[in-house]
Amino acid sequence: MSDQDTKLGAWAKFKALPIDSTPKTLLVAFSLCLFCSMIVSGAAVYLKPVQEANKALDKKKNVLQVAGLYSPDVDIDEVFKQIEIKIVDLKTGRYTDVVNAQTYDQKAASKDPSMSIVLTNDPASIKRQAKYASVYIVPTSDGSIDKIILPIHGYGLWSTLYGFIAIKSDGNEIAGLQFYEQGETPGLGAEVDNPIWRAKWPGQKVYGDDGKVKISVSKNPKPAGEAGRFHVDALAGATLTSRGVDNLVKFWMGEQGFKLFLDNLKNGSL
Ligand SMILES: Cc1cc2nc3c(=O)[nH]c(=O)nc-3n(C[C@H](O)[C@H](O)[C@H](O)COP(=O)(O)O)c2cc1C
Repeated sequence: MSDQDTKLGAWAKFKALPIDSTPKTLLVAFSLCLFCSMIVSGAAVYLKPVQEANKALDKKKNVLQVAGLYSPDVDIDEVFKQIEIKIVDLKTGRYTDVVNAQTYDQKAASKDPSMSIVLTNDPASIKRQAKYASVYIVPTSDGSIDKIILPIHGYGLWSTLYGFIAIKSDGNEIAGLQFYEQGETPGLGAEVDNPIWRAKWPGQKVYGDDGKVKISVSKNPKPAGEAGRFHVDALAGATLTSRGVDNLVKFWMGEQGFKLFLDNLKNGSL
C-alpha cells in the first residue's frame, strides 16, 4: 500500500469515528482555540494604533485639564496646538533639543538605561529617572508664559501614579495637579482623581522664602494664614497613597526634579 493510500485510509477512519469521539472532540476544541486566538491577536494588532492614539489624546486632555483649558465640548487637538512642548535636561535645568520633543516618551526613557539614571536617593520609589523631561508651556495671549505643566510620577500604595503639576509663571504657585494613570483602590487611594481633592491644589505654593520645597500633603490640620498655602489635606482613609503623593511632589519639585529648571525660569535665565 502506498503512503497516499495509508493517509486516505487514516482520514477515512477518522471520518468514520462517532461525532463525540475523543479525536473529533479534540480536533474541534483545537480548531476553535486556533480560530479564537487568531481573532484576538488580529484585533490586538489592528487596534494597537487606535489604542496608542487614544492614550496620546487622553494625555493631552489631562494636560489641558491641569492647565484649566479643558471642557467637554472643546476639540482637544485644536486647543492643544497652543501648548508648546519642550524638553528639559534635568541635570542643567535648561531646555535641550537632544531628543525630539514631539516624539519623546519620558516613561519609556525612564526604563531605558542609556536614557535614565539609577536613583540612590529615591523618595518617590521610581528606581530610575529619565535624564530628560517633557514640559508643556501654556502661553498667555501676548505670548509670554502663563503656566508650565510638569510631568510627575511616583509610588503610592499599590501602584505608580503618573500625572502633571501645573505651575504659574512665578515658578512657585500651583495652578493644578492631576493624575492620568494610577492603580490605587477605588474609594480610597484612587480618590486622588476626585475633583474635590484636586481642587485643594490650585493657589498653593511649592517653595518657601528660603527657596526650599515647603508644600506638604498632610493629615495635620491646615495652618491658618499664609502657612496654609503650603498645605494640602491628605485623603481620608488613604494616608499611604497621600504619603506617596507627598513624596513624589517633593521629589519632582526638589533638586533632583524641576527645581533647577524653575529657578532658571524665575531668574529669566532659561
Ligand atoms: C483592601 C484595602 C485597600 C486599601 N487601599 C488603600 C489605598 O489605595 N490607599 C491607601 O492609602 N490606603 C489604602 N488602604 C488602607 C491602608 O491600609 C491604611 O489603612 C490607610 O492608608 C490608613 O489611612 P488612615 O490613616 O487615613 O485611616 C486599603 C486598605 C484595604 C483593606
